[in-house]
Amino acid sequence: MTASTKPTASAAPRPATDRYEWEKNLIHYGMQFSPQLIAKARGTMLWDTSGKEIIDFTSGQMCSTLGHNHPRIVEAIRKACDGALHLFSGMMSPPVIELSQRLAAILPPTLSRSLFLSTGGEANEAALRLAKLHTGRYEVVGMTGSWHGMTAGAAGSTYVAGRKGYGPQQPGAMAIPAPNSYHCPVQHCRDKCDMTCLNVGFDLVDAQSAGSLAAVMVEPLQSSGGVIVPPEGYFPALKKKCEERGMVLIFDEAQTAFGRLGTNFLFEQTGVTPDILTLSKTLGGGLPLAATVTSDAIAEDCRSKGFLHVTSHVSDPLPAQVALAVLDVIEEEKLNDRAIVMGKHLQDGLQSLQQKHEIIGDIRGYGLLQGVELVKDRHSRQPDAATGAKITRRCMEMGLSMNIVSVGFMSAVWRIAPPLTVTKDEIDRGLSILDDAMTQVLAEGRA
Ligand SMILES: Cc1ncc(COP(=O)(O)O)c(C=O)c1O
Repeated sequence: MTASTKPTASAAPRPATDRYEWEKNLIHYGMQFSPQLIAKARGTMLWDTSGKEIIDFTSGQMCSTLGHNHPRIVEAIRKACDGALHLFSGMMSPPVIELSQRLAAILPPTLSRSLFLSTGGEANEAALRLAKLHTGRYEVVGMTGSWHGMTAGAAGSTYVAGRKGYGPQQPGAMAIPAPNSYHCPVQHCRDKCDMTCLNVGFDLVDAQSAGSLAAVMVEPLQSSGGVIVPPEGYFPALKKKCEERGMVLIFDEAQTAFGRLGTNFLFEQTGVTPDILTLSKTLGGGLPLAATVTSDAIAEDCRSKGFLHVTSHVSDPLPAQVALAVLDVIEEEKLNDRAIVMGKHLQDGLQSLQQKHEIIGDIRGYGLLQGVELVKDRHSRQPDAATGAKITRRCMEMGLSMNIVSVGFMSAVWRIAPPLTVTKDEIDRGLSILDDAMTQVLAEGRA
């Protein structure tokens, strides 16, 4: 499904209650709430309670890769309602077994065992528990700028935000610098990463280690950290560092799996197969589903050591049924190929905007995951988060939902990631709003 439809009478717009009224009973959790309530979502489009149309350039929270409320997802939910929604955690159901087999069929033989959970944080938690039990060690190396989730273990290896004010983080958690060639973290190279940061990072890891190095956990393309694309050869070099130290390599593909970058999994483009792979956001197509995937050897070793990771919604049939529909649609609609074609169209449009607006310092990414770095000037590359936030708000007023990431870390970056079903017309309309919003705000003067 590529066309977006307007709200029907059954979802007739209702007036939004006063914002201060509806905020009164909510906890603020770190993101500004959008000013309007959203009543309906289809494809790339959202409608607020007054019927105003908004183009979604964020795929919800990066999950709705098929577009919002894809008919096949709705059909899968109905099918699950006719079957089973939720079961005792020790019970398996046909959709869960089928999903484990479908994943095994599209993954290499060393990634044949899946555990189905609800969120990305949980999947990373399980990955860390497997890695620790398997190696008998506890130190975990992450990357600056990473986001792995809000549960304790995942948050312990999340470095882009949220570390201050919560007391001690996980014992043994350490970070190597992200290979960000636009802002070289070791102030060594510019625009072309020569991987000095990787060597420096591991020198520091070795110096700090208590001799218990268990795992490295990374995003193969760092998203919340500013859409950082590591240089060619980075992951084989990282894998070698792991092998030299007997560490397990975990790839967190919450955002990069299932088509956005043109392949089912981004690791396929890196020349490295991880020991443990975590999947979340894009697997459920908008419903909460995550998977931790590993080898027979690690799964069996951990089983023999009494591995425990039971949650209330482990192996639930409803999201598994939906994930099967997600996999079907990606294949049938050739969304991997589509992401490359539409991504090129999006990137070309962004590059035209870069020629016009000095605030755009860099454009990077591929497929339908594009990062637009906002700078005070192109020489100093100082982030201009305040003007970026003002333009983001103006976009929303004009009918375009945008997300600014990495603020407060090294940069201010629009992460532009519409659903894989986005049309060229929707991309063009979104880019035109972005152009107008930038023109207006910059004419008013930077924030
Ligand atoms: C790469 C990555 N991993 C894990 C997570 C955490 O997923 P969840 O919010 O579903 O726990 C996120 C969330 O943004 C993410 O971007």
